[in-house]
Amino acid sequence: MSVKHVGVALLGLGVVGGGTYEILRDKRGMIAKNDGVDIEVRRVLDRNTERLKQLGVESLAARDIDEIVHDPDIDIVAEFFGGVEPAKSFLIKALEAGKSIVTANKEMLAKSWRELESAAERGGGGLYFEASCVGGVPVIRTLTDSMQGNAVTSLKGIVNGTTNYILSRMSDEGVEYDVCLKEAQRLGYAEADPTADVDGFDSSYKNCILSSLAYRVRIPLESVYREGISNINVKDIAYGKELGYTLKLLAISKCGNGVVEARVHPSFLPSSHPLAAVKGAFNALYIHGDSVDDIMLYGRGAGALPTGSAIVSDIVFAAGKDKHRRFPFQSEVGEDIAVSDDFSSSHYIRFDVKEEEGTLGKISGAFAKCGVPVKTVLKKDDGTLIIVTHEVRESVVKRALFAAEQLSGVERVVAHIRVEE
Ligand code: HSE
Repeated sequence: MSVKHVGVALLGLGVVGGGTYEILRDKRGMIAKNDGVDIEVRRVLDRNTERLKQLGVESLAARDIDEIVHDPDIDIVAEFFGGVEPAKSFLIKALEAGKSIVTANKEMLAKSWRELESAAERGGGGLYFEASCVGGVPVIRTLTDSMQGNAVTSLKGIVNGTTNYILSRMSDEGVEYDVCLKEAQRLGYAEADPTADVDGFDSSYKNCILSSLAYRVRIPLESVYREGISNINVKDIAYGKELGYTLKLLAISKCGNGVVEARVHPSFLPSSHPLAAVKGAFNALYIHGDSVDDIMLYGRGAGALPTGSAIVSDIVFAAGKDKHRRFPFQSEVGEDIAVSDDFSSSHYIRFDVKEEEGTLGKISGAFAKCGVPVKTVLKKDDGTLIIVTHEVRESVVKRALFAAEQLSGVERVVAHIRVEE
């Protein structure tokens, strides 16, 4: 087999950049033999001289992005800075210069996909981002290259390792939230600013990317409803367990009848659901296609080598292409498809109630009046009352909660968590 020689530049040599460098260095021969492309890291851009030394790449260090952009020996630029700027400006320059880019930068993509895509079109290079969602698990390529015989109708995913690690430890070991978060940071799962993880931003970027690909509809990030896990109390995780549920931060989206919905929020799942078994920093994506039925992709969603594995796969993929894939979305939200934030689900509601006769009956009555059927009730001796409803729309449950809070026997609604049956 004749081997094609390809030059790569790595922007940033942190956890994932370093992991990618190591994979490319150690597996260069294997990749050349298997895939017919000899991939050589020819340039790196990182101000941390200690890190350059540690990886033995001082001689490859570029002074600035222009040196890389104007280097004819660089075909592919892989970016590991994270955040929108300066990554976006650097990558647009590289794309306009005809390079292909590979990135794990979900925030930049979710916010600036169109600009990056048009720069790629102008330059003729490719835009590759397998590593942006679910780390080492090939979810992007599954959606773009393996679902052609399907209308994808829903996605449900655990797409953030940090929050899954925190919720799993809170659930299995009763460990406090703050301790779990520190440990996730130490293990390198969390973003530089971990509020991006715990407040659901990271999952919303990934949901925006995955849902846009799944439904061939460009879904703006602002249309993705978002709630994080920082208000989750370990008591609700335990009560949920008693009711047969496991708590996860889920990225959910659905598409049908000209309407799409995309959301990120804590959700109770039946403990028998395959996603409930996904623990620690592991991620999974559960896809429903109308031909294939349900499939689930599972694996490590963060970390140096798993994310590096997806980056290297994109580099090899890009290296082998003379003509690159474009993403001509068939629909545009707001033009020919609507976004709904009045989505349906069941609801877990925890009340503090007073020692008064008939409070449960009054709440059930108020719920029934608003059209919210009660499915399950759990009552504790300490004034805790939990109601799980059947599936209703958000707007309907909000009216019912307001009505219940006006009742004399109700102190307050302590927790409200959606349930995906
Ligand atoms: N902070 C992210 C996570 C990293 O915890 O999943 C991978 O995108």
